[in-house]
Amino acid sequence: MTGLSITGYDAVEYWVGNAKQAAWFHRQVLGFDLVAYAGPETGVRDRASYVLEQGGIRFVVTSPLSGDHPIAHHHRRHGDGVRDVAFTVPDAEAAFATAVARGARPHREPQVLADDDGEVVLAAIGVYGDTVHSLVQRDGYRGAYLPGYQPLRRSGAAAGFTAVDHVVANVEAGAMEAWAGFYERILGFAQLRHFDDEAISTEYTALMSKVLADGEGRIKLPINEPAAGRRRSQVDEYLEAYDGPGVQHLALATDDIVATVGALRERGMSFLDVPAEYYPDARARVGEVAERWSDLERLGILVDRDDEGYLLQIFTEPLQDRPTVFFEVIQRHGSRGFGVGNFQALFASLERAQAARGNW
Ligand code: FE2
Repeated sequence: MTGLSITGYDAVEYWVGNAKQAAWFHRQVLGFDLVAYAGPETGVRDRASYVLEQGGIRFVVTSPLSGDHPIAHHHRRHGDGVRDVAFTVPDAEAAFATAVARGARPHREPQVLADDDGEVVLAAIGVYGDTVHSLVQRDGYRGAYLPGYQPLRRSGAAAGFTAVDHVVANVEAGAMEAWAGFYERILGFAQLRHFDDEAISTEYTALMSKVLADGEGRIKLPINEPAAGRRRSQVDEYLEAYDGPGVQHLALATDDIVATVGALRERGMSFLDVPAEYYPDARARVGEVAERWSDLERLGILVDRDDEGYLLQIFTEPLQDRPTVFFEVIQRHGSRGFGVGNFQALFASLERAQAARGNW
């Protein structure tokens, strides 16, 4: 099965209640530059969108301008969340036709958008829940983002983010296998064997996970489903809060996680607590690392090692009051895994946060 020639993430678009404030948060806390805008001032009457960039990452935050709008309906049901994980492709029409012929749900027929800076071809397929994958052909387009967007140059205080490392989906119990098959059959992705069919669990709660990746390893999409445990899985809590499946977290890569997390903490970002007993265990489990353990412990950064190397990671609290989408910050030193050795320690922390919200 050949792939669709996906060359990378094009953008991740959030549909939110207040895009103006979401853009501010991304600039002031996460250090993104505001590079483009579309809204009433640019002739778009029904929505406002802010385009934010840092390293190779592009986010778009969009709000509706009236209550009776598809984005407003989406927001009423889901709260703030990821609507679109968009991929760049060399030929959007061909990618769309291939995906649909293989059984993908068409969401947006290929459409050419043009302005003085050139043209972009856009199409989209639907995936889990109300989430879509836009297929974006932008070769030769010279504008800031898409036709209709006005360029801006408002820099943020960069935090060292370089790329989207992976995007994780939460789906209903029993649906993980089908979605893994979807990405294999339709997009030509392959399963990575990191926690193959093995439930990840603590004493109380559990989930199952499969990781799908494109041939180049540029795009990695883990898919979780809840598994039976003594108490309710964190995935179940998400599915109820988001009212269906959707993106659980985005992992953003950095080349200096100590500096990145230090800057984010200084700007008031909160992260999941790490249990006190984590660091002695982690030092014994992981061994020598280039970073100072005192920095990792001070900042609450987790460490995991596999046979290829190690990785450092940390998870933010949910970005809104519903316990739904959050960020991971990750730095890889050879490891291509996802920190499976940290899950135990992390879940204990997640469970405490879940208990504090009364969601058992
Ligand atoms: Fe992750």
